[in-house]
Amino acid sequence: MSLNPREAVQKMAPYHPPTGNRATNLRLDFNENTVGCSPQVIQRLVQRLTREALTVYPDYTRVRRTLSEFFQIPSERMLLTNGTDEAIQVLINTYVDPGDEVLVPRPSYAMYRFYAEVAGATVTEVDYAPPVCAFPLEALLAKITPATKAILISNPNNPTGTGVGLPAIEAILKAAPHAAVLIDEAYYEFCGVTALGLIDQFPNLFVSRTFSKVYGMAALRVGCLFSQETNVAFLHKAQSPYSVNALAAIAAEAAVEDPEYVTDYVTEALAARTLLAEGFTKLGIEYVPSSANFLLGYFGNRALEVRDALRDKAILVRDRSYEIPGGVRITVGTKEQARQVLAELEKIW
Ligand SMILES: Cc1ncc(COP(=O)(O)O)c(C=O)c1O
Repeated sequence: MSLNPREAVQKMAPYHPPTGNRATNLRLDFNENTVGCSPQVIQRLVQRLTREALTVYPDYTRVRRTLSEFFQIPSERMLLTNGTDEAIQVLINTYVDPGDEVLVPRPSYAMYRFYAEVAGATVTEVDYAPPVCAFPLEALLAKITPATKAILISNPNNPTGTGVGLPAIEAILKAAPHAAVLIDEAYYEFCGVTALGLIDQFPNLFVSRTFSKVYGMAALRVGCLFSQETNVAFLHKAQSPYSVNALAAIAAEAAVEDPEYVTDYVTEALAARTLLAEGFTKLGIEYVPSSANFLLGYFGNRALEVRDALRDKAILVRDRSYEIPGGVRITVGTKEQARQVLAELEKIW
């Protein structure tokens, strides 16, 4: 006889992103950096990787100082996390009890719902409306209740690529002073809009950043969560003390010390996004204008067929048609990679 898990876990739908056998393909399915991290990150890892270094539990003193300088935020306002995923988890564990409401736009990053459900919260969703997929501000404001304990927003949003401006974020923060409002800025570098400057003003604001996307370090699992110091002290209490491993900490430090690498990659990716969008238009494929390093195209009832045909050509893209009719999300990296996808699309579309 097997053990019965908690009811919240029994009720959850399993979430299995397609992570297997990706290595030899052109990976345009996870919005990662498509060329790799700064070479300086590897150099630093090699320099600091010694047998002794691996024997000791991580010491975050250096990385915290470096990141605090880089983000221009006092270190008391920053929590180092095992990717954004841990930021979401710690935030939920700190502020959400079973039965509380968590408000999330749909479609959005799957882990918001995931951690809210694990915690036994009630998830309320607010829909982005295709084809434009503008941020559903009014609908979201209307769904805030006294039971809303967290509001989780990706800016720009995955998978739509659409952003939300600071006035709308301020309206949400004011309408829900009793809720933890997370602005997940995983794709910040591609759009330049950040809520970090609002932290002073709003004690219910939390902002996350990650090294998984533009920095090309998804495998290392490292990110940051920012908020006012009293909140960060509580988040700390709810976080396991060594969730970020020492190599990830070293890599994060080296990564922010090579800002040019990131700026160059962003310039290339934005040019590639324009190229892909123009190519879509030529082929008569509609898409959602994007502020991130991916484009959501509308392929009608051929979405799965297009995904599979590209996979046969060793190009991985992500089907999102189960949540946005006809939607397939394609990561942008270099111009050359965008040309490669377009060349294949031309053959099959
Ligand atoms: C909006 C958003 N947040 C966070 C993440 C993942 O972040 P991390 O790798 O830092 O856990 C993703 C990845 O797809 C994402 O789309």
